[in-house]
Amino acid sequence: MSGWNSGNGSVVEEIKSRCNIVDVIGQYVTLKRAGSNYKGLCPFHGEKTPSFVVSEAKQIFTCFGCGASGDVIEFIKRYHNLDFSEAIEKLAGQYGIELKAYGGQGSSQKELYYEINRKAARFFLDAFTKKANPGLSYMQKRGLDPATLIRFGIGYADGEWDSLHRYFLQQGIDETLLTNIGLLSQSKGKYYDKFRNRVMFPIINTRGKVIGFGGRVLDDGTPKYLNSPESPVFLKKNNLFGLNLTRQDINKEDCVILVEGYMDVISLYQHGVHNVSASLGTALTENQAVMLKRYTKNVVLCYDSDSAGRAATLRGMDILRAAGCNVKVMGVTEGKDPDEFIKKNGAQAFYELVKSAKPFADYKLNLIREETDLSSDEGRLEYLQRVTQVLKSLSPTEADLYIGAIAKETRISEGAIRMEVFGSGIAGMGKIPEAPSQAVRTPAAGVPQTNVAIEGHYLEKNLLRLMLAQGAYIKRAGPYAEVFQDGACRRIYETMARLYQEDEEIDIETLADSLEPEDVAVIADILNNVRLNDREEEVFADCIARIETQRLCQREQQLLQMLELSDDETDAAKVEALTRELMTIQQRKNNRE
Ligand code: CTP
Ligand code: MN
Repeated sequence: MSGWNSGNGSVVEEIKSRCNIVDVIGQYVTLKRAGSNYKGLCPFHGEKTPSFVVSEAKQIFTCFGCGASGDVIEFIKRYHNLDFSEAIEKLAGQYGIELKAYGGQGSSQKELYYEINRKAARFFLDAFTKKANPGLSYMQKRGLDPATLIRFGIGYADGEWDSLHRYFLQQGIDETLLTNIGLLSQSKGKYYDKFRNRVMFPIINTRGKVIGFGGRVLDDGTPKYLNSPESPVFLKKNNLFGLNLTRQDINKEDCVILVEGYMDVISLYQHGVHNVSASLGTALTENQAVMLKRYTKNVVLCYDSDSAGRAATLRGMDILRAAGCNVKVMGVTEGKDPDEFIKKNGAQAFYELVKSAKPFADYKLNLIREETDLSSDEGRLEYLQRVTQVLKSLSPTEADLYIGAIAKETRISEGAIRMEVFGSGIAGMGKIPEAPSQAVRTPAAGVPQTNVAIEGHYLEKNLLRLMLAQGAYIKRAGPYAEVFQDGACRRIYETMARLYQEDEEIDIETLADSLEPEDVAVIADILNNVRLNDREEEVFADCIARIETQRLCQREQQLLQMLELSDDETDAAKVEALTRELMTIQQRKNNRE
């Protein structure tokens, strides 16, 4: 859709020659000359010492801290969270470059979509405000005032199959366009309105353009929310709901309360909590984090109190931290979500909760404590390992604040914990050894050698290859799912397992649709590089044997560690039991080799 992709050489050239990268970046980052280059603090990750370098001669920027790099267009794209054509438009506008001369249909196409969405929003708003309708009654029943509803531009899509369709026909708007942005759907050659009998939440970007909609049913029907599909104007991962209204407040308060849903934003807003935004239900993305950081670094995560909300909190936290945000977590204890809480308890009680939000490390450490049993040696060890991972992500001073308390809880010395966190310690313990041992390098007799190009994650990729060949392996590998540790492989496995539950015939397109492009690329890599040569059963048996060997190795490590932590004198009986188990394991290991 981007009109600059074809025959655009000249406009890109023109921009690059007219916009000196040092001047452009200099508007956002304080740059100091350093030799023949310029240096400053990287705007793409939090840093205190400059590792962001701009080369005037090469007209590029590079950050040695986070690896961001590119030309002037790339900088504007990343800094303002724009796509390629938007970045071009911005620079062209600023430097007085006439785009028409270059035939930018891309942008006029997008403008047309924005205009259509704006009209649709107006149409839904009229249906919501001009006469009594079930949408308005529903929202009023949920306690929302007319002023709030109008502020968010809430509308109503009536129950007919063609109200919107007819309206746009009058306006002379082409059905294909309406279908492209998901306002109409098509079945057996006939168009029909996609949103029917739903309360409509317009999604508006920070430039004030309506980019899509969420439509809520008025009862317990499914899906609860129907959202606009991704389109040239609506990329979910680049937008946050409500930010168009709340970004000034977020900036002023220097803090954002990040919630899950449309209703949470609107309800908090009505109660006077204006520094709020929602990640539109999907997991928070890196782009959304970068976007928020334009207004504040301080994020309070306030997701729903169910298990999905907790999982999203953990993932969101890491993404925000990686983007350089300070993250706190608050839990709504009464009520399933912030909307329910504030309705029941009022704004004052909500602010109390915000005040008592926990720093992300406390939150993670608490969770680990709840999930491990500190009364057993295995439990203490697991606790120590997991806690170490969290502390490693903190600065040494921050980590130190927690070490004393952890030492007390685990009865492991502070010195030992410090070694774990800052030194080598039990490095790699509990991790699957990546560099294969002898047994791993030489495949079991008769098993075809897989392509060595696919170095690393040998087991994960082989198992995934089998699963892609035959769904039955998804089930058979279930008990060994611990091997899926690598991010992409783990996501692919989990997605396949979920799809397999729904339908044992997994279709590769559905799989690809359910994954991010980078994970799809991993699948392509696996399909291209892992060879099964019709020996699926042998490959599978080989994988399982290796996993069993790994389990033995891990248990061996764990036992060695526990023996190290036990005191020979006072725990004589325990030491003996551990030693005995260790010997058995070592024997079994030897037998396998
Ligand atoms: N969501 C979605 N599709 C669904 C369910 C949820 O897109 N079928 C997204 C919506 O953006 C929704 C958010 O996930 O706002 C959070 O979901 P949920 O907590 O179920 O909705 P609420 O916003 O709390 O809505 P309500 O109070 O009406 O239940
Ligand atoms: Mn909710």
